[in-house]
Parts: sequence; C-alpha cells; structure tokens
Amino acid sequence: SLSENVEILGKTYKKDEFTNVTKNILQKLDRNLHNQHCHPLNLIRKRIEMFFYRNYLNKWRSQIFSVYDSLSPVVTVEQNFDSLLVPVDHVCRSVSDNYYINRKHLLRAHTSAHQRDLVKSGLDAFLVVGDVYRRDTIDASHYPVFHQMEGVRLFTSNELYGLLGMHRLPQQFLILEDGGARTKQKQSQHRPETAKLLELNLKSTLEKLAYHLFGNEIEVQWVDAYFPFTHPSWELEIKFHGEWLEVLGCGVMEQEILDEAGALGKVGWAFGLGLERLAMKLYNIPDIRLFWSQDPGFLRQFEVEDPQTSIEFKPFSKCSPCTNDISFWIPENYSENDFYDMVRNIGGDLVESVSKFDEFLHPKEQRTSHAYRIVYRHMERPLSQEEVNVIHEKIEKTVTDKLGVEIR
Ligand code: PHE
Repeated sequence: SLSENVEILGKTYKKDEFTNVTKNILQKLDRNLHNQHCHPLNLIRKRIEMFFYRNYLNKWRSQIFSVYDSLSPVVTVEQNFDSLLVPVDHVCRSVSDNYYINRKHLLRAHTSAHQRDLVKSGLDAFLVVGDVYRRDTIDASHYPVFHQMEGVRLFTSNELYGLLGMHRLPQQFLILEDGGARTKQKQSQHRPETAKLLELNLKSTLEKLAYHLFGNEIEVQWVDAYFPFTHPSWELEIKFHGEWLEVLGCGVMEQEILDEAGALGKVGWAFGLGLERLAMKLYNIPDIRLFWSQDPGFLRQFEVEDPQTSIEFKPFSKCSPCTNDISFWIPENYSENDFYDMVRNIGGDLVESVSKFDEFLHPKEQRTSHAYRIVYRHMERPLSQEEVNVIHEKIEKTVTDKLGVEIR
C-alpha cells in the first residue's frame, strides 16, 4: 500500500505512485554474480579487465584503468537519466520500462548512470561492472536483471595527439574550439581532428577487445547508433559462428557531461556492453536464467584457474517443460510489462518464456482480448503438471485482482 516504506540495501525509501519494484526483483540485489569467484560473468569481466590492464599503461608502465564493481544499483533519476542528457520526455524513462523505487530513485537501467560522478571524482580511465534492471519481455535471452560493463577514457590535448606520436604540441593543436558546428561526424566544440582521433582510438580499442574475447577468426562491423550521452555513436557487431551479434554501444562523450563533471579541457569516449550476451555466446549457455542457478552442475563447469581458459558449457539434460495458456479481456490502462512482471513474480525462475500468441478485438463489444503462452521449466528437475497448475491458477487470480483483466 502507498503509505509503506521499502528497505533496500540497508536504506529506507518512501513508496509513492512511481513505486513498482517487486520482492522478486529486490531479492536479486545481493547476489552480485559479477563478483562471485569463477561465475561465468565474473570470468568474462576479468578477461575484459585484463585486456585494459595490460594494454593501457602510462609512461611509468602502470595501468591507467581502475575498476568499480560495488557501486549501489540504487541510483537517482538524475544519475540514470538527467546527468546523461536523456530528454525529460524520452520513453526510456517510463515506469513500464524501469524499476522505480519512488519518483526520485530507481534501480539503474545501465552502468552509464555512474559516468558523470566518476569523472567528477577525478578519474580519467575507468571500468564499471554491475547489475542493471529493466522491465522487459521474458524469454531465453531476456531477464529483468542483467550485467553491464562500462568503460570511459578521457584525454587531454597532449594525450590525444600523443596517440599520433606527437609531443610538445604547438598552439594550433588544441582539441576544443568555440563556434564550430555540430554535424553527423562531430560535436560543436570538437575540432574535426579531435572527433576523428577519438573515433579511431575508440574503434581500435574495442575491435582489439572483441578479438581478445572471441579470437581472431571473427569479423567485426560498425553500425551508426544514437545515444543521448555520446555523439557520434556506434554499435559494434561481430560475426561469430556464422551469426552477426550486436555486442556493445559506444561513442564520443557529450562535452556537456564532461563540463558538468568539471573535466575542463578534456575529451573522451565511453562504451557499455552486456555481459550475459557475451557469456552466452562464448560459453554456449542456452538460457539466461542459468546464470542465476546455484546448481553445482552449472557452476562447476566454470571452475578454472585462468579466466582465459576456453570453456564449452555442456547443458545438463533439459527437463521437459509444461505449457499453460492464459487469455483475458484487457482493461483500458493495461500494460504488458505489468503482466510479465506479475508472471515473473509468482512463477519466479520456473517461467522460461511468456509469449503473446493472439490478440483479438471483439467487434460488437469493442473489447480486446490477449492470449499468452507461458512455458514453465525447472532448470534442474522435472516439473509435474499439478505443481504448475497451482502456480498458473495463482497467476490467473492475481492478474484478475491486480490488473483488472477478465479471464476468458
Ligand atoms: N548505456 C548504453 C546502453 O545501456 C550503452 C552505452 C554506454 C552507449 C556508453 C554509449 C556509451 O545501451
């Protein structure tokens, strides 16, 4: 009810009309899979860290990147959106896409939420690893909690032109200028050379990272993209085992964010990648729920001394699924993500997928009906139809009570 508080990681938050975090989601906050020794997500992040540690050294040969893996996933709307120049009316802020604690706080939807603050603290090169939360459809590759790794690198003008082997720069090599134009290729304050050097350094860094992770046999390609916090922006796709896969988003950091963070006279790039997606491809893990499994049959397959060890996951025989359908008349303000969340909340990790297979408008009554197929499967043991029916009936009852739908 509205008057209650929510307790998260030892802090109390007042609920309001934005609150939509569920108990099921809040239980994930203390798992920290990315910090769990030998968990596949931990192996991948270590491989990425090693790449940055080894390849990026300062002139005294010490590593320039530092890693932040324990920042609280509870962030403010200001951190997650405003600090990154996300427009106030952008759809990505909506209650149906995010887990809000209240109108001021939410579970971070991306690790970019920490960019501005870490730059403000004086860092020039850092990685952030953490759990991120998004309301979404449910299937083998979508789960409301996943993990991201963010990278940021800033340059002074000496450092940027130093990439070309130039030192002791004359005046004309300033990286920022006033009165320039914003174009498809660059921001207004960036000289064309600045934007180009940043792009080349960013792209070559991330291509090398992709080869480091997936081997030299892959193909890579760059696709133009849009993010409110970078310009220009790109996505990197790699062709692995014959299939094109989008692996990360990146771009030249918006100068306004750096100015706001007090990084005067510096320019930089940033990237963000999803760890589950990489791990699923790299280790051949067929279902995203497996990352949450505590079964030794899963975890033991990743117990290696060296994170670089190649691992091919061998699925333990998949137990057979139970499939139940649900169909109902929807009320006017119906949101599909509310339904998905409710199914996930009640069915937990037994829910393998939820898919809409029919939508129908009754011509006379002017009412719409939706039909969904819910596939239930346990990762470790067979399910009986009886135990699934208990859960399914509970879902029917709850959606009737809470969403105001009418079961057909
Ligand atoms: N935060 C973006 C996402 O979650 C990824 C990104 C990070 C893009 C940094 C550009 C720069 O999709």
